[in-house]
Amino acid sequence: MNGSDIIILGIESSCDDTSAAVLKNGEILSNIVAGQKVHEKYGGVVPELASRAHQQNIIPTVDTALKEAGISKNQLTAIAFTRGPGLLGSLIVGTGFAKSFALGLDIPLVEVNHMQGHILAHFIKNKEENYPKFPFICMTVSGGHTQLVLVRDYFDMKIIGQTIDDAAGEAFDKAAKILGLPYPGGPLIDKYAKEGNPEKFVFPVSNIGDFDFSFSGLKTSLLYFLKKETAKDSSFIEKNVADVCASYQHTIIKTLFKKLIKAAQQYHITDVAIAGGVSANSLLRSELFRIGQEQGWNTFIPEFQYCTDNAGMIAIAGHYKFLKGEFAGQDIAADARLKF
Ligand code: KG4
Ligand code: ZN
Repeated sequence: MNGSDIIILGIESSCDDTSAAVLKNGEILSNIVAGQKVHEKYGGVVPELASRAHQQNIIPTVDTALKEAGISKNQLTAIAFTRGPGLLGSLIVGTGFAKSFALGLDIPLVEVNHMQGHILAHFIKNKEENYPKFPFICMTVSGGHTQLVLVRDYFDMKIIGQTIDDAAGEAFDKAAKILGLPYPGGPLIDKYAKEGNPEKFVFPVSNIGDFDFSFSGLKTSLLYFLKKETAKDSSFIEKNVADVCASYQHTIIKTLFKKLIKAAQQYHITDVAIAGGVSANSLLRSELFRIGQEQGWNTFIPEFQYCTDNAGMIAIAGHYKFLKGEFAGQDIAADARLKF
């Protein structure tokens, strides 16, 4: 350890995961995520329960992250936290904690936009030293967002397309709910789809705007399709769950790539990345590789633990903001609708 080391504590609490990470000179020393099982029985995140759980989890999560990293609080250079977007009550817990901890330690405080964090996760040090080159396009697909972002520099990002209704992750989760699967349903649809035929059932691929997406029609078409089929055969879902999941998943991924390819062509981009929880999806990953080879792209997917919500991505964004000297004051407040 020497005086010029930059050691960032990252704090993430935008939705239903309380996370703390320690990052030294761009390298992760620890990345702890405390999930919240309490939402499962409600079929979605209950905001009030999420804030209460963050309140309980935040101190032990930070404590574990520091211990696992072998770093004492006095060695920290700065504290980075998610200011938004997200659930306000959840964000307030992380923001309040980060502000008090930074004040107590008398070190800089750095605010991070959660969506920029997802994208900057690509710059967490990896063994191959393989990072996207600017300008690149990042398709950020999560439970709350679906965005095509033109990334010109670490904090020079422009949203060139986004969903006008449901996010891709929401399309997975809502379909899972219709199928009677537990929340969050994305990983389960992915699992069942592996055994199914993606061509068995045909669902509509939306076609709106230039690079925008829409997924609510797809979800509705699944609902009506299942209503019709279960009226004829009440065990239709049971018998066809794998084919339904495979066909539905195939439609989401096809919709996403249609716009991603168009955007990369229009902006003459060769480095293409994905980020967010849905980038854990196995078809999305294999299609990015296949289509990337076809299109001559260099493709980038973060390590699995940095795809879903985590504080490692907040710490790396904080690291680059720290280098720019962009610090937040004690008057900073959480912002549920934070833009960039
Ligand atoms: O980024 P994230 O952890 O939280 C948000 O900021 O939303 O993303 C969570 C979303 C959920 O909708 C979840 O169902 C989806 O990511 N997800 C998946 C998979 N793993 C997580 N969707 C499809 N396939 C997966 N394997
Ligand atoms: Zn997220």
